[in-house]
Amino acid sequence: MTLNQRLHAGFAAAFGASPLIVSRAPGRVNLIGEHTDYNDGFAMPVAIGAETRVGFTPQPGADLRVMALDLGEEDRFAPSGVGALTGGSWRNYVRGVVDELNTAGVVVPGGMLAVAGSIARGTGLSSSASLEVALTHALLLAVGLEWSALDIALLAQRAECGFPGVRCGNLDQIASAATRQGHALLIDCRSLALRQIPLPDDIAVVIVQSGVERGLVDGEYNTRRAECERAAAFLGVAALRDADEAMLMAAKGKLDDLAWLRACHVIGDNRRTLEAAEALSANDLRTTGRLMRESHRSQAQDFGITVAATDQLSALLNTAIGTEGGARQTGGGFGGAVVAVMRRDRVDAVCGAVLASYRTPTGAMPAISIEIPADGAGVIAS
Ligand code: GLA
Repeated sequence: MTLNQRLHAGFAAAFGASPLIVSRAPGRVNLIGEHTDYNDGFAMPVAIGAETRVGFTPQPGADLRVMALDLGEEDRFAPSGVGALTGGSWRNYVRGVVDELNTAGVVVPGGMLAVAGSIARGTGLSSSASLEVALTHALLLAVGLEWSALDIALLAQRAECGFPGVRCGNLDQIASAATRQGHALLIDCRSLALRQIPLPDDIAVVIVQSGVERGLVDGEYNTRRAECERAAAFLGVAALRDADEAMLMAAKGKLDDLAWLRACHVIGDNRRTLEAAEALSANDLRTTGRLMRESHRSQAQDFGITVAATDQLSALLNTAIGTEGGARQTGGGFGGAVVAVMRRDRVDAVCGAVLASYRTPTGAMPAISIEIPADGAGVIAS
């Protein structure tokens, strides 16, 4: 069954009807620029084929009944005056979006709503952001409002920071909302300027799952953010975006070592992201690959967010790819997926090498996907 068939079958089974509105939003894989977004820096994601779909039939005045079809779980609440749930997991993403829409003055109708997705959770490919973005699309359409991709992304980001309590940046939601098919998206996370970078046809983006699940809600993410803020305050800048490598060198031995290392990563990844955007545009995989390898090293040694499995997988991929491309852990960290960029004609050999020697912690072969950069979120039918 396709994702769309699952959504329609699940909606019909739960509510005995077809949804009036169907929206979709993709997951994303970040090529480079990690933990830079909340430092007002740069990131460069592409949208992936896996996505979340939302089906909705509004019924003004009724409760909002929500079915998470993949989990077989449900929620029900009055959309005006919605509150967070303790340990509410996916429910708080939905409730968070409704709450932010209320705050923005949108009167969210009740009704029948179902969610289905193909993004594996805990893999660093933004299943939560795609849920928030797809849901925002569906609810706005239901009340006849058209918002820009950026406004939708920023509302979805506020929703994730609110009820779920993750102090995330804006990378995931902007990637899900504003990417374009066949392109990577260079995001200036401060000015919100977006640059679509066409990906040359002979370049392949490959994702390999380490099989180590990551948890964004555990404290590490917020701790990294606090360390970056400490470094920025010491350097006397509003955000690490405003600091350069010379300022960092001058602070060595004065700023505490941990915050100094965190700043090294962020300042370095900002520079690498801008350089990688130029290199990719010029079809220069040699430079792109070197920057990705440097980014992985920096995530491992300076930012402390890789794990043995993603270190091993990145090393394996980098060896198999050679000099024309590279690989790095992608996303928030502590496991999840590794992203690789290479020439298309190398894909079979590289995947073969990974399948021959990498096993997940449970001894399974890793899941591999060869991505065709997808379009950002939108409405499918209404
Ligand atoms: C998570 C967050 C993003 C970003 C990345 C790391 O995906 O949600 O805002 O900080 O981690 O780059």
